[in-house]
Amino acid sequence: MATLRLGDIAPDFEQESSKGKIKFHEFLGDSWGVLFSHPADFTPVCTTELGYTAKLSDEFARRGVKVIAVSVDDNESHQKWIEDINDTQGTAVDFPILADKDRKVADLYDMIHPNASTTVTVRSVFIIDPAKKIRLIITYPASTGRNFNEILRVIDSLQLTDSHSVATPVNWEDGQDVIIVPSLTDPEVLKQKFPKGYTEIRSYLRITPQPNK
Ligand code: BEZ
Repeated sequence: MATLRLGDIAPDFEQESSKGKIKFHEFLGDSWGVLFSHPADFTPVCTTELGYTAKLSDEFARRGVKVIAVSVDDNESHQKWIEDINDTQGTAVDFPILADKDRKVADLYDMIHPNASTTVTVRSVFIIDPAKKIRLIITYPASTGRNFNEILRVIDSLQLTDSHSVATPVNWEDGQDVIIVPSLTDPEVLKQKFPKGYTEIRSYLRITPQPNK
């Protein structure tokens, strides 16, 4: 198994899930994707993470993102756990959870870190773009629940920076000022791309209102 890196094509797979067999690339279609693993079914932190992710369903849909979870348990367990998640978190899990009992996906995406645990997956997140390229990889320890608002924030940044010549600064949130990429220096192009103007703090640090707002 080769190490996955940003810019790599997300490996395709076929695996059972709580919503039937998934062919990953087919499932993604032209959408963005978030593939995320967690240690196991019926564990407390994961229950809160999957419940919160279900509550963000409209936010993911608005951004054209399909969400899919990985758990190294079987489908029967998933179905029972989904009932628990819905009940305890007051939500309805509407995304598939891969039944990765044989660890096909966990191994393909290097989600088992043997020096942390030989049996369960760490908390991995992969954001995948419509060209199936991996655009973000994060890994959290089992004991720390992730911030799924941060995952939405990164998707906002990626979708903005893909279509405009900007990057997003520290702690940026959708709607806030952004940074013009340093490679853009032609004054005519700058005027055309940023009609609202910009503030030059340094030649390499130019701030402009978010162009698509
Ligand atoms: C969990 O819910 O996955 C978890 C809880 C405590 C320690 C490690 C993992």
